[in-house]
Amino acid sequence: MTIYTAGKTVVALLYPLLKAVQVYDIKNDVVINSAKKFVEFIEDLFSTISSLEFVRYRDYIFFNKQRLKYEIDSYANLTFLNNQLKNLRIKSITFLPGINQQELIDFADILIKDKVTFLKHFVLKRYPHINVQFLKAHEEADELAENGEAAKKTYFKALKVTKNLMQNLWTGRPVDVKSSRRIVYSLVDSISRDEFGILALTTIKNFDEYTFNHSLNVGILALALGQRIGLDRKSLARLGTSGILHDIGKVEIPKELINKTQKLTDQEWETLKLHSNFGVREILKTRGLDEISMVAIAVAYQHHWNFDGTGYPLREKDEEPTLFARIVRICDSYDAMTTARAYQPVPYLPHFALRVIWSNQNRLFDPVLSKVFTQLLGIYPVGSCLELNTGEIGLVMRQNPSTIDLPIVKIIVDKNKKKVDGKTLDLGMETVIKIVRPTYPQIHGVNPAAYFL
Ligand SMILES: [Fe+2]
Ligand SMILES: [Fe+2]
Repeated sequence: MTIYTAGKTVVALLYPLLKAVQVYDIKNDVVINSAKKFVEFIEDLFSTISSLEFVRYRDYIFFNKQRLKYEIDSYANLTFLNNQLKNLRIKSITFLPGINQQELIDFADILIKDKVTFLKHFVLKRYPHINVQFLKAHEEADELAENGEAAKKTYFKALKVTKNLMQNLWTGRPVDVKSSRRIVYSLVDSISRDEFGILALTTIKNFDEYTFNHSLNVGILALALGQRIGLDRKSLARLGTSGILHDIGKVEIPKELINKTQKLTDQEWETLKLHSNFGVREILKTRGLDEISMVAIAVAYQHHWNFDGTGYPLREKDEEPTLFARIVRICDSYDAMTTARAYQPVPYLPHFALRVIWSNQNRLFDPVLSKVFTQLLGIYPVGSCLELNTGEIGLVMRQNPSTIDLPIVKIIVDKNKKKVDGKTLDLGMETVIKIVRPTYPQIHGVNPAAYFL
C-alpha cells in the first residue's frame, strides 16, 4: 500500500469515529467499533511506518509529507478534518505506535470540541501516543491574511460578473448563465475554505450600485447557509447562482421606481412586486437553460413567499416554496435590512436585523433555517461594531465557534475616540474586557467594509 492510499484510508477511518463521538456517548458500540477499525488498521501500518503524521497547511492535509487530494470519495472526510484542525488552530497530529482504543476515543472526543475545551482536556489528560502541534500566532495570522486576499479577489470578480450579467439583460443583449458558473464555483470554494473571509465582504454595501452588491451578497449569504446545512458542491453552485439572480426581474422595473426616496404609492408598489414574475421571464431569456436555470426560476418567483403562506406573487394554498427559495428569503431580508437605501437611510444594526429574523420565524421565515442562519452569523455578525467596557470600539472580524456571543474583534477606535489600527482580541479568552453594546460605525466615523479590503 502506498503512503498516499494509507493516508486516505486513515482519514476515511477517522471521519466516522469523529462523527460517532459527536452523536453518541463514548461508550456506545458505534464509537467503539469505529475506534477498533481505526486502531487495527494503523497497527498494521506501524509494521512498516514508524509514525503517522497529519499536517494541515493552507487547507491541505498532508500525510507523512504527501498531500491528500480532495477527491469525490475523500472530500467530506478531508473537509471535516481540515475545518476541525483549523478551528482548534492545530498544525499537526502524530499518532505513535502503542496507541490503544481508549486513548484514541478520548482524543476523538476532544477533537470535535471547541478550542478552549480541547486545550483544557489535552493538557489535563495525558496522550502518550499522540503528539499535537499548534499553529504559532504568526502562522495563523499569515493564513488568515492569505485567505482574506483570495476572498477579496473572488468577491470583486464575482461582482464584475454579476454586473455584466444584469447590464446585458438591461440592454437586451444575450446572456449566458453558464459563463458565471466558474465564478460561482470559486465562491463555493472560498466559503468552504474560510466562511468568514468572504462573509466579511458582504458588509460592502454600495449605495449607488445597490442591486449588484445586494445580489452578490445574497448569493454569498445563501452559500454560507447552504454549506451549514450540508449541501454538496453542485447544489451549492445552484444555490449561489439562484441567490445572485433572485432580483433579476428588477431589470424590467423603471429605475426611477427602484431608486425612489419617497414612499411608494399603492400602484407603484404593485409594479415593484412584479419583479418576482419578471424574474422568470428574464432567466428564461438567458442562454444555456439547464437545471441551474430551472432552480433559479423557482427562487426568482418565490423569494417573497413567506413561511406562513402570505407574500407575493399570490399562490395556491398548498404551494410551498423550494428549499432554495426559503434560504434566499432569509438572506435577502437580512442584506436589505442591513443596507442603507433611499427609503431606509439608517440601516438596521446587524445584530438587530438578526433579531428581526429570529422573531419572525414561522411567520416570514423557515424556523429551522432561521436558527441555522443566526448560528452562522453569531450574535454579533462579522462587520458589527462593538463598544467595549474599555471605551474602545471593536470591529467583529470572525465568530468564535464555541462562544457565539464573544467574537474575535479588532480595536479600530481607542478610548480617546481616535481611529487606530489596534490589536485583535479574542473576547472568548478575555476575562476583563467585556462588550457594552453594539454601535453604529458611522457614529465613530468608520466604515467596516474598509477594514476587510
Ligand atoms: Fe426581491
Ligand atoms: Fe432582494
